[in-house]
Amino acid sequence: MNIFKAILLPLCLICGMTMTAGCNQIENSEYIYTENSEYLVLLNKTHPSGESYCPPDLTALDSTLTLYGKEVELRLYAAKAAETMIRELHAQGYTDIVVTSGYRSYAYQSTLFYTYLSQEAAAHPNWSEAQVKEYVLTYSAAPGTSEHHTGNAIDLISTNYVVLDETFAQNPAYEWLQQNAHRYGFILRYPADKTEITGYSYEPWHYRFVGAAAATEIHEHGLTLEEYLGILD
Ligand code: DAL
Ligand code: ZN
Repeated sequence: MNIFKAILLPLCLICGMTMTAGCNQIENSEYIYTENSEYLVLLNKTHPSGESYCPPDLTALDSTLTLYGKEVELRLYAAKAAETMIRELHAQGYTDIVVTSGYRSYAYQSTLFYTYLSQEAAAHPNWSEAQVKEYVLTYSAAPGTSEHHTGNAIDLISTNYVVLDETFAQNPAYEWLQQNAHRYGFILRYPADKTEITGYSYEPWHYRFVGAAAATEIHEHGLTLEEYLGILD
């Protein structure tokens, strides 16, 4: 039994409740409440990872919680927290919400990024290469700079609308996520009003695991991870 449960159990016994239901105990809390600073790692345009970086303890998510049952991996703590959060979303009636993306390798992010460059170049034949790249960089990270490399970021999607765009914010589940994601250790990483700081346009579907303590502080003070860490260069 870990320390958290050792403390919680007597409390539950005193208040006459069970650890799984009564005391409002969240499943996988031993992962969700981590204060391990590893989960606060900053990976952005100015703080890239090396090409060979591969996070430890990558763990496959329960495939019933992913889009079309595809394989999605996250670091162990993020995976447990994500599974708990998605199961709670489903229990609340938001059964269409699943995970569509988690850990991405440098090579996979390269493929994505260069695909977007080609698509945007074709769609905007009058733009220069630099203009195309500048535009793509507002929504896709260049290889080595994607938070998905950390294994701590997820993209959520609705099975009723399998496109990642701002309409995700109209899904009723989004309101629940705004109120509750921090309780599971996740933050909305690219908010609409912080694009100058994050460098990316609004992504209502992208959530980053940082642990519930940091996530709660970030949520309550309306911060980005950059602001929370005081790393704005
Ligand atoms: N869409 C986010 C910024 C990424 O590519 O990691
Ligand atoms: Zn994402």
